[in-house]
Amino acid sequence: MSRIHCIGVLTSGGDAPGMNAAIRAVTRSAICNGYKVKAIYRGYEGLMNGEVKEFTTENVSNIIQTGGTILRSARSKGFMTPEGRKAAYDTLLRESIDALVVIGGNGSLKGAMTFAEEYDFPCIGLPGTIDNDLYGTDSTIGYDSTLNTIMQCVDKIRDTANSHERIFFVEVMGRDAGFLAQNAAIAAGAEAAIIPEDSTGADQLIQFMERGIRKSKKSCIVIVTESPKYGALHYARRVTKEYPEYDVSILGHLQRGGSPSAYDRIFASRVGVGAVQALMQGQRNVMVGIRNNEVVYVPFVDAIDKRKLMDRQLIHVLDELSI
Ligand code: F6P
Repeated sequence: MSRIHCIGVLTSGGDAPGMNAAIRAVTRSAICNGYKVKAIYRGYEGLMNGEVKEFTTENVSNIIQTGGTILRSARSKGFMTPEGRKAAYDTLLRESIDALVVIGGNGSLKGAMTFAEEYDFPCIGLPGTIDNDLYGTDSTIGYDSTLNTIMQCVDKIRDTANSHERIFFVEVMGRDAGFLAQNAAIAAGAEAAIIPEDSTGADQLIQFMERGIRKSKKSCIVIVTESPKYGALHYARRVTKEYPEYDVSILGHLQRGGSPSAYDRIFASRVGVGAVQALMQGQRNVMVGIRNNEVVYVPFVDAIDKRKLMDRQLIHVLDELSI
């Protein structure tokens, strides 16, 4: 195994609060341990096009508190092709980058895994996604901040829901994962959550209606995970007979922005340092996560392909507390 002198770092896929804290941690930890650091802009797109800049510790000053990613991000179609990956490899050779740290979600880590196998190139992944849908880590960079943002939005929506005695359906992000919806519902004291992991969610909503929300409650908030098939509007329409006056709020991209929470900054800092440690220990093709408060290395294939399960206890807690 040849020695690593220079580490490349990039962010890819949807931005997430805490990505900057991770870039800072990788950069400073690498420099601290005697490596050069090269930042790659616009994810795999920039890697293919040679958008590279050497970073010093000053390049990552004053960014730990900022949302988004200073490296910018992209969902690259080109990197999915062999030609795109060849162009990326050429950039790495030209720039003398010997290892790559990829901060991103499922699709981004899948790209890293394919590239690492194809070119026998050392890649380390950091879980950067608000969805918290990566297996082998208890959380992901951005998840906690987004959860807090959703909770604050729902707290505000509740003021109107209460004042007008209305039922509100709030649609949140998460793609195929209901962690944001389920935990935001618990944190904001919502009445129900409809999540992809629990197919009974919609039926529960109907049962809930039959029990008669208004017998005991003046208003009601249901949090729904976005889905290409059934969004909040779909569920809202199912109750129009009982409650013709419903409201739908789709929170959209405001969920992904803003300053990262303390938890996300610390999480990102720990896994960022973990990425450099992993390379120093000769680890390859792993995602650095945190499980039971310990930094762990999860093989890419597990992080990507295994499904992270929803703790049934969370479903029970919401159910019992929403009477
Ligand atoms: O994966 C993060 C995420 O925010 C998902 O929750 C959401 O489905 C998707 O990205 C939205 O992507 P875009 O910002 O490209 O529309």
